[in-house]
Amino acid sequence: MPQQHDFDVLVIGSGAAGLSLALAVADRLRVCVLAKRGLADSNTLYAQGGVSAVMDAADSLESHVEDTLEAGAGLCHPDVVAHMVRHGRDRIEWLLAQGVPFTTVPDERGGAAVHLTQEGGHSRRRVVHADDATGQAIEMTLLARARAHPGIDLREHHIAIDLITLGKLGSTPDRCVGAYVLDKAANRVDTFRAPFCVLATGGAGKVYLYTSNPDVATGDGIAMAWRAGCAVANMEFVQFHPTCLYHPKAKSFLVTEALRGEGGRLSLPNGESFMHRFHDKAELAPRDIVARAIDYEMKRLGSDCVYLDISHRPAEFVRAHFPTIHQKCLEFGIDITREPIPVVPAAHYFCGGVVTDIGGRTSLPGLLAIGEVACTGLHGANRMASNSLLECLVMGESAAATIFAEPPAALPEIPAWDESQVTDADEEVVVAHNWDELRRFMWDYVGIVRTTKRLERARRRVHLLRNEIGEFYANFRVTSDLIELRNLVQVAELVIRCALKRKESRGLHFTLDYPDIDDRNYRRDTILRAGDFG
Ligand code: FAD
Ligand code: SIN
Repeated sequence: MPQQHDFDVLVIGSGAAGLSLALAVADRLRVCVLAKRGLADSNTLYAQGGVSAVMDAADSLESHVEDTLEAGAGLCHPDVVAHMVRHGRDRIEWLLAQGVPFTTVPDERGGAAVHLTQEGGHSRRRVVHADDATGQAIEMTLLARARAHPGIDLREHHIAIDLITLGKLGSTPDRCVGAYVLDKAANRVDTFRAPFCVLATGGAGKVYLYTSNPDVATGDGIAMAWRAGCAVANMEFVQFHPTCLYHPKAKSFLVTEALRGEGGRLSLPNGESFMHRFHDKAELAPRDIVARAIDYEMKRLGSDCVYLDISHRPAEFVRAHFPTIHQKCLEFGIDITREPIPVVPAAHYFCGGVVTDIGGRTSLPGLLAIGEVACTGLHGANRMASNSLLECLVMGESAAATIFAEPPAALPEIPAWDESQVTDADEEVVVAHNWDELRRFMWDYVGIVRTTKRLERARRRVHLLRNEIGEFYANFRVTSDLIELRNLVQVAELVIRCALKRKESRGLHFTLDYPDIDDRNYRRDTILRAGDFG
């Protein structure tokens, strides 16, 4: 029998954003945090480089703001950038107070200071990290805190299917009042009611064939918000990380940008350096430029990968700074203290998402969105390295303030999930096949370098797939694969639509048909609203 669960706040997602928010409100409100797989299974867990924050006396807030604006190629919202940057230091201090084991160095007063590393786009060392496994240190610490908190109900293997809105229930004004959620262990769809629902569902890297993201990153929050009528923006700005390990058996393994920050050099298969030909900052150019340069060289030479070499630094230094990468590469027979690492670009981060203000409010009352799922205006057309975890942490706190400031709405009666018209799927192969097809054509036609012809081709394919999957969804009992595929296809369509609207090249969106920036017509966000297309 389907069940109904009531909370003050329903948080969908247990990464850095969701857990920060849950911990910020749980002393006063009853919170439920959902995770669709294991609780730690998130993009956050895999973050390597670190969290950007102004911690050094030689650094300044102005410099962090300036670097972020430059990377964002004219589309960052300066007030939002200032807000995030201003709160960086206190979020790091909060994480330290929670017990996150950041890497430290002795300071001049005989104490310890956080060690700061360097990444692309940053003009200073300002990336706080825990060796090369920063995300794991943050995720596991916050999760332990959340597990110990009596006000937080953590539910793993619970996948939200769709948001419940007053509009869908036939009343006005519209408001989000909960979600239908598949409890995978019980194989049952339950109703979760709450006056505040928070999407903290992360990104959508899995819409591409090659990605640095783990399997959870299927854009569920973006698709659910879109179906609920929220505005979505800047989906064309997909960040491709330049350096993921290239090995037939390595699934989604990133080689952190901090490795280039500590002197790592990129080279072609013949050993020749090439980044100086593309940017005066060479290896430390903004990420889009490095990814495009690699893509260009690989296509020019017909090579499968390029190489990233840190072996000129002392072996002890390499092992101490990059223990995770060192170990992982050894598993594949590559000793990074002695030889270069084969690398390729892969889809990494979505700068676009559900439009929110600085308090995490979406265009639907009762619904907030924080972390990678949201588009706050911080990243503009290109995110600077390590600004994402910063945003998750700051927005967890800002959204908590929004919730405290707003009176909770009364909850309506909600009908239980209706399965009377569906049967068990007869052909699981349809889902698997469509999943592969979608990810492949997104890689081929909507990747690092685009053209209008390729985008149009992708739009036609995605339209067919969306209809086929919609039919499948209407007729068969939901499974998590089907839920995710339905969301991926929706996200793909949003990416293609946004990309077709932007007839210029800016930041992460590069099209051969409009290779130049066009400030006069396109220095603005690409905003899609419900009803813009069928
Ligand atoms: P996530 O951490 O991805 O969490 C998403 C959560 O939502 C998960 O718990 C998932 O189960 C849940 N969820 C999703 N859909 C549903 C659903 N339908 N129902 C229920 N639950 C759902 N950024 C930096 O700033 N610095 C770095 O060094 C860095 N390194 C990175 C390295 C890698 C390999 C990757 C992939 C990303 C990296 N990033 C980095 C980006 C950063 O890690 C992410 O943007 C950030 O962690 C996103 O956090 P989040 O809380 O928004 O989402
Ligand atoms: C990395 O460590 O290179 C990833 C950093 C980021 O995505 O911010």
